[in-house]
Amino acid sequence: MNVQEVHHPLIQHHLTRLRHQTTAPIEFRNLIRRVAVLLAYEATKDLQTQPREVETPLVVTEGSSLKQSVGLVPILRAGLGMVDAVLDLIPQAEVWHLGLYRDEKTARPIEYYKKLPQSEPVDVALVLDPMLATGGSATAAVSTLRAWGVPKIKLLTVIASRDGIEEVHRQDSEVQIFVTAIDPELNDDKFIVPGLGDAGDRIFNTFKQRD
Ligand code: PRP
Repeated sequence: MNVQEVHHPLIQHHLTRLRHQTTAPIEFRNLIRRVAVLLAYEATKDLQTQPREVETPLVVTEGSSLKQSVGLVPILRAGLGMVDAVLDLIPQAEVWHLGLYRDEKTARPIEYYKKLPQSEPVDVALVLDPMLATGGSATAAVSTLRAWGVPKIKLLTVIASRDGIEEVHRQDSEVQIFVTAIDPELNDDKFIVPGLGDAGDRIFNTFKQRD
């Protein structure tokens, strides 16, 4: 319930390249963007519209425009890889960043950036993060958005674990999750298996240790 595993030949094709360990960051970034667009297409199917007249070069006819305000909420860092692609689809969306990283030992999320306005919340928030592992980061983001007053929250993620999905829904069963693959397990380091590794490091080319 409230989880949609988006199956599409293009998604499966791109996902396989994303998983491949030798896929270089430049291709990885492009693939994340492509998958983000396809996920966003699915996740926005129920956005409300309102009628709007439009004057074509020939006549006046009936059209429509989006009725609800939409916020994109990338979870830093990896969620940044999805923002521009989704913003191209919904150019009027607001973008609100949340900074969270997982503590390496406990895998608990540590918040390092949160700046939401006092003003009215958006009607619909699309939380963007390629990975949902333990669900700690996503539940922290959902709490923040509920505290702001966001009525509808959708989580767009590329790969999720079953545990992560359950954790999000244990806290808030109303959150809709759109995912391209649900992987079976987490390893001892709380990485999704088979997964694709650390999405943030692969997007930003920071997976090599420097002295
Ligand atoms: C990864 C990923 C999610 C989180 C998922 O980010 O992008 O935000 O971990 O794990 P969880 O469901 O167990 O919380 P990470 O902490 O590696 O930060 P980064 O995006 O800066 O690399």
